[in-house]
Amino acid sequence: MARRKIIAGNWKMNMTPSQALKLVEELKPLVVNDDVDVVYCVPAIDIVPVVEAVKGTNVAVGAENMYVEDSGAFTGEISAPMLVDAGVKYVIIGHSERRDYFNEDDAFLNKKVIKAIEAGLTPILCCGESLEQRELGVTMDWIRLQIKSDLANVSADDVKNIVIAYEPIWAIGTGKTATSDQAEEVCKGIRELIAEMYDQATADAVRIQYGGSMNAGNAAELLAKPNIDGGLIGGASLKADFGKVVNYNK
Ligand code: PGA
Repeated sequence: MARRKIIAGNWKMNMTPSQALKLVEELKPLVVNDDVDVVYCVPAIDIVPVVEAVKGTNVAVGAENMYVEDSGAFTGEISAPMLVDAGVKYVIIGHSERRDYFNEDDAFLNKKVIKAIEAGLTPILCCGESLEQRELGVTMDWIRLQIKSDLANVSADDVKNIVIAYEPIWAIGTGKTATSDQAEEVCKGIRELIAEMYDQATADAVRIQYGGSMNAGNAAELLAKPNIDGGLIGGASLKADFGKVVNYNK
């Protein structure tokens, strides 16, 4: 069975609640495409108003982060059960900005993946190499290490339902997209790794996105590749262009 494409916006630290509502309204008629799943991953403070604003549409809401405990003395954190109760369906885990700026390591990210699944959220697990790693020729070694560590003790049935986002760090927010062949090569390598860690049925089911300067101009070519099942889109998710990415096949 063909995997359903999933196009997710990653708003990052953009959009106040009132700006968020305006953007949701602007995008409403533009992001309709029955062939794909559409997700807006939004800042925590925008979650409640955006969940309300997308009611009755094809859009699901995701969080950009979460903590590994359910509740307690963790000032400033937000738990998986809180997200679920607010109507959130997805959560980005292990974005390179969180790995780099907030020192999130793979052992911690593994706990997040397990907690998100337990709570009923779909993790969008990010991985990706730096420019230095690509130039050293260790891209796939690095990504294999990330995925193996982040998915430790996660069952095949659970992995079938997660989303993996391949995001080369050098392509994020730089306007420098990986070529469709470069992106396909790594996404294929990730699928082969999942087959190795689990089995072919699991590898065939898991959805793998590409992210890094994806936009209306390059989405169709990237999404035509057999192992690229969607996109995680930063900059281009904050404007009308996102509608064109969602409708890449029209
Ligand atoms: P970008 O960000 O599309 O702005 O490159 C992608 C991401 O970081 O998820």
